[in-house]
Amino acid sequence: MAGKHCLLLLALVWCSHAVFNRPYEIKLQNNEYTDVLVAIHKDIPEDPRIIDRLKEIFTEASQHLYVATNNRTYIKEVKILIPNTWSKTSEYLPAGTETFERANIRVDVPNPLYEDNPYVQQKGGCGEAGDYMHLTPKYVVDKEYGEYNWGSYGKTIVHEWAHLRWGLFDEYGFDDPLGGSYPHFYVSTSMGIQPVRCSAYTAGASQHAVTGNRCQVDPATGLPEDDCRFYPHFSENRATGSYMFMQFLATVTSFCHSDPEGDPLSYHNREAPNKHNSVCGGQSAWDVMNKHEDFAGGANPPRAVNSTDPNFILLQKSDFFRIVLVLDVSGSMDGEPILLLSQVATRFIRNTVSFGSSVGVVTFSSTASIRHPVVSVNSDAVRNDLIAAIPTSARGGTCIGCGLRKGIEALEATGPPQGGVILLITDGEETDSPHISDVIPELLRKEIIVDTVAISQNADAKLESLAEETGGLSFFSGNGDSIALDNAFTATFEETGESTGVNLLSEEQTISGRQTYANHLYVDNSVGENTTFSFSWLDGLRPTVRMVTPLDLVITEGHSMYDVTSDTITIEIPATATPGKWTYNITNNGPDNQDITIIATSNPVKDNEPIKVTAQVSTVSLDYSSSQLAAQKIYAPVRRGYLPVIGAVVKVLITKPPDGQVEEITLLDNGAGADAVKNDGIYSRYFFNFTADGRYGVSVMADNTKGEAEYIVINRARSNGALPMNPGTGYINGGNVHREPLEQFQRMTTGGVFEVQGVPSGGVNTDMLPPSRVDDLKVMEVSYASSSVMLSWTALGDDFDQGGPAHYFEVRYGRHFGQLADNFHGSASINHSQVLQGSLTSPPEPGSAQTIVILVPDRGDNVTFVFAVRMCDEADNCGDPSNIVSANLEYIPEPEIFTEASRDLYVATNNRTFFKEVKILIPNTWTKKPEYLPAGTKTFERANVR
Ligand SMILES: *[C@@H]1O[C@H](CO)[C@@H](O)[C@H](O)[C@H]1NC(C)=O
Ligand SMILES: *[C@@H]1O[C@H](CO)[C@@H](O)[C@H](O)[C@H]1NC(C)=O
Ligand SMILES: *[C@@H]1O[C@H](CO)[C@@H](O)[C@H](O)[C@H]1NC(C)=O
Ligand SMILES: *[C@@H]1O[C@H](CO)[C@@H](O)[C@H](O)[C@H]1NC(C)=O
Ligand SMILES: *[C@@H]1O[C@H](CO)[C@@H](O)[C@H](O)[C@H]1NC(C)=O
Repeated sequence: MAGKHCLLLLALVWCSHAVFNRPYEIKLQNNEYTDVLVAIHKDIPEDPRIIDRLKEIFTEASQHLYVATNNRTYIKEVKILIPNTWSKTSEYLPAGTETFERANIRVDVPNPLYEDNPYVQQKGGCGEAGDYMHLTPKYVVDKEYGEYNWGSYGKTIVHEWAHLRWGLFDEYGFDDPLGGSYPHFYVSTSMGIQPVRCSAYTAGASQHAVTGNRCQVDPATGLPEDDCRFYPHFSENRATGSYMFMQFLATVTSFCHSDPEGDPLSYHNREAPNKHNSVCGGQSAWDVMNKHEDFAGGANPPRAVNSTDPNFILLQKSDFFRIVLVLDVSGSMDGEPILLLSQVATRFIRNTVSFGSSVGVVTFSSTASIRHPVVSVNSDAVRNDLIAAIPTSARGGTCIGCGLRKGIEALEATGPPQGGVILLITDGEETDSPHISDVIPELLRKEIIVDTVAISQNADAKLESLAEETGGLSFFSGNGDSIALDNAFTATFEETGESTGVNLLSEEQTISGRQTYANHLYVDNSVGENTTFSFSWLDGLRPTVRMVTPLDLVITEGHSMYDVTSDTITIEIPATATPGKWTYNITNNGPDNQDITIIATSNPVKDNEPIKVTAQVSTVSLDYSSSQLAAQKIYAPVRRGYLPVIGAVVKVLITKPPDGQVEEITLLDNGAGADAVKNDGIYSRYFFNFTADGRYGVSVMADNTKGEAEYIVINRARSNGALPMNPGTGYINGGNVHREPLEQFQRMTTGGVFEVQGVPSGGVNTDMLPPSRVDDLKVMEVSYASSSVMLSWTALGDDFDQGGPAHYFEVRYGRHFGQLADNFHGSASINHSQVLQGSLTSPPEPGSAQTIVILVPDRGDNVTFVFAVRMCDEADNCGDPSNIVSANLEYIPEPEIFTEASRDLYVATNNRTFFKEVKILIPNTWTKKPEYLPAGTKTFERANVR
């Protein structure tokens, strides 16, 4: 039954670039960071100045890093990966496991959201490493421009390093055109209106970013108007922290800390409602760093060094991708497994391997042999020879080490083995020596990547760690799951960025005897080049396929595009496939059930960024016994180039042990729970419904079935990223960002495999799991007139971010920030009678916005309230208290717009005119006051300004 269920869910499944990227592992030992990988994208025109400048920038950054971490770390070794599109010189060593996709620091064309702003792609929570730092060629090369905008390169890189390495967040307010903004000002319970800053000693003045005028306070928020910014004083500023705030100030040389004995000038300001405090629960930068393995327990104590200069290693990728298929032909593979493997490997060689790549075939059982040496695939004849070498029968023991050794031998026969890939596929545990562990040192020394596919729960437990250690990927395909196996082959090929192919559709169907199965797929206009559909079967009579294109052309048996072999029908659409709905019918011509695998691949249309889906999990192995609250986070970025696709329907299918049951979860991009940033195109969710120990396979589908998907289009707008020195530069005109609806598209990708151990028998008891912590609490509006405050946040689920709405929530408040921060439970809580709008007891569905208007007990001068919330389930498991927000309840008169305007008019007309008299007509629906004169002939309709 379980197997059937799986097939049903896998019906209509689309694929795309299936890359499960894990960043290159930066090492820290004895205060020295090594293996820092900087990679230049292959489309960046050759410019040796980029390399020279990278050396200068990282030398400078290392020096500042040493000081900023109190002599505890610096950068000892940087690898610069030069693309193979640049000229070759003997100075460059051959690249091994280094790829652009895995680089810690990318030099690439600008992300339109950030332009030349350096930034770090962060999708995790507090203390979780970022994915990569992105620098543009212009930023790297044009020193004058870079320093003018962002100040010292070395210090800017240290700021970004803190995002990348230690999972810190910005301590300044910023405007995010996609909705994840943080305020520039707040009201402190002890000091009134304050700029958001760390430390509070950072001196400066506030002014309107466009007009340069004094800022006015907005009565609706009790805070300075939207365009107000804090301008730091560049000279005589005393603040020594923080790097996460304004690292470009000359005196700033450290991160904020919370040590009362430490330097007061970099003391953490936990009251500022910036992203760092919201996400990290008010912890200082050093509080978070001290929990990171780099510094935890006093690791890497201060050490005097003679020089902080890094060594630079220049690497270049080889022109051709080399892969050896190392296939298990031991006895347990006999029958369907080996036939399936043979079919998928054949499809891989026929359709996926691009012209000029090199492929070889090795098989192993108790011993191993090279079935076909590594050769360059440069003709159909070569493809056919390789296909002929794919095994179709199996017997004997399992010596995985033998297979690996033969794989190395096959790679070495063609030149230096560095960067070569072994794709190891096996279903069993190793029985004969040499073992995997015997061969690992050689693989590491020779810098060979091993990707592994476990094709049963029983496959050797060391496969995933073998892949991890050698920088490879690992996959799991349950018994008979040809889709997962196919995805694994494709992902392996795509991981190095060699392939432009987009795997469109993956579908496996069981069709009853003499029945016809009908389905369709959408080809969107970002792909369509050289589109190929293949229909494969393992047994039974040859089925018939009938396909109808969006232009109503029928393709079926006898058509020139319809190609038939003994186990596969291929339909190849020359040039560009018409975007739209492609329907297909498959007829089983035999009397018995027949399993058919349907795969469609395509390529991006020229000069068009395809929509891509990738998938990642937060950890590849999870020990449930060590923490009863362990959960996996699953992420799926859906993007077009660097720009996010929002509003897509993104689902993850998790194949669970022991029997391959499939659980489906919808991922969200709403900035709540597991999702760190709203609308960044990275969809996330927790997964914790573990049923048993073993391998969990992850695949992700994205489509636009709701018709709400949009692509963000930007004309000159800058989101966050490094803070420019002039606050006016970062000023965003919201009109520059707009959204374009997307047509129907569908994608699927594999997120690889993760392993879980220590699951209690009977599975996880979700009653123990609390809702997640709210970290996006905001004050939407403050009203002096009604003594009320409107709060809003994203609702969470009963268990973390899912499982139905939470049962209830608590809002607590006070007049002193410290009291609420240190003693949430002892602070006053909002009761039902204070709720003017909304309800305390019926939280909405997880992921939706929750808004509540509450009455506060006081208002007037110096009246400031702070608030925090937490959500609870019916078993009274509650999330941690949220971020803390404040509301200013003083009386703020309407802004004196006309007084200011009159002054400006006077100046603008060279002292020739100004407003001497302005009549304000107040509607009769407002309270009558003795100071209002009767209106006479004045009406709203005749007003000059309404
Ligand atoms: C760091 O090293 C410098 C000399 O390189 C020294 O002056 C300074 O006191 C050291 N700081 C710490 C915190 O050890
Ligand atoms: C620093 O330099 C001195 C003199 O050149 C040398 O004796 C010492 O070993 C060096 N120390 C380190 C840690 O490299
Ligand atoms: C499409 O196929 C043609 C002919 O085989 C080939 O020349 C072209 O490079 C292919 N285009 C892409 C994007 O792969
Ligand atoms: C598929 O079969 C159904 C029912 O037999 C038919 O209505 C439909 O037109 C067929 N579609 C194609 C593409 O042949
Ligand atoms: C959790 O897993 C069990 C066993 O696979 C399944 O029956 C149940 O429906 C899952 N719960 C949810 C909320 O999906």
